[in-house]
Amino acid sequence: MTTAAVARAARVLHAGGLVAFPTETVYGLGADASSTVALARLYAVKRRPVDHPVIVHLGDPDQLDAWGRDISDDARLLAVSCWPGPLTIVVRRNERRVSDAVTGGRDTVGLRVPDQPLALDLLREFDGGIAAPSANRFGHVSPTTAAHVRADLADDVDAILDGGPCAVGVESTIVDCSGDRARVLRQGGITLARLAGVLGREIHEAGDGEGPDAPGRLAAHYRPRARVVVVGHSEAAIAAAEDLLVGGARTGLLAPAPLPADLPSGLEIVGAPADAEEYARVLYRCLREADDRALDVLIAVPPAPGGIGAAVGDRLRRAAAN
Ligand code: TXA
Ligand code: MG
Repeated sequence: MTTAAVARAARVLHAGGLVAFPTETVYGLGADASSTVALARLYAVKRRPVDHPVIVHLGDPDQLDAWGRDISDDARLLAVSCWPGPLTIVVRRNERRVSDAVTGGRDTVGLRVPDQPLALDLLREFDGGIAAPSANRFGHVSPTTAAHVRADLADDVDAILDGGPCAVGVESTIVDCSGDRARVLRQGGITLARLAGVLGREIHEAGDGEGPDAPGRLAAHYRPRARVVVVGHSEAAIAAAEDLLVGGARTGLLAPAPLPADLPSGLEIVGAPADAEEYARVLYRCLREADDRALDVLIAVPPAPGGIGAAVGDRLRRAAAN
């Protein structure tokens, strides 16, 4: 269904403007993927180095062949099985359609069909590819509500579509299918178990230093102002909190429920998600809340590493990196 807001957003994109829109993972900052002028503005607003590629969002899995070339069987299988969904597939690019401005000069392009009704309405109304990184300034925490986008980008964005809080809460899983062997470049909304189920074999995350440099893989990323300290379990969190509080640091806790009963007084509870899915949904809001509360330190206990817990643990480690 095309509402007036979606129709207007599509016009803004056609005119070379920037539109923030919800996806099931995080909010994206969209630009017409076929306009180098619009892409230049996107990179400027995002304050992102121009050699870092952006994902092109498509309205229909059928468009894989129009934007990529030499599509592998793995890529095709993943697209058919997981799109629309929180999966980005990196394939060799169709040079006639995908410019260096999208790929940072690489011969490959990241493609994804998001599973979010407003995003799909926008893509279909716009009738083209929308290049979109997460709608935050480079290196900051990704936005999962329209209010987060406004807080970060203010007047630098020409329109914001508000679809409420994102259902998944962490970014898409990225699989590089441009080479001989499919590899995971970033863990995210689609689990490695699901990918293995689709491909009929195990698939692994590329080691650090392996594969193309990508901003999502920089050690220090997704960072709030507060220092993030990751500890393995709640007992260790309590010990760390006691030391920090004695030292006068304003300290918060984000840890899986149930929280221990004997928490030190003065420790601020920022979040206590019930399971890994809820943890993913609230993660970025909690990192922002640490700053809203002017915490010096946020102590975070990751969820169990299975399923989407792996992506949550990954983002927490990057938030904690110096
Ligand atoms: O869930 C998501 O993927 C969100 C929503 C908005 O779709 N987007 C997102 O975009 O997280 P961004 O730009 O914040 O992160 C995209 C990641 C970056 O790490 C980028 O380097 C990588 O995708 N990427 C894009 N194209 C690539 C390519 N051709 N080869 C390798 N990595 C690529
Ligand atoms: Mg990002």
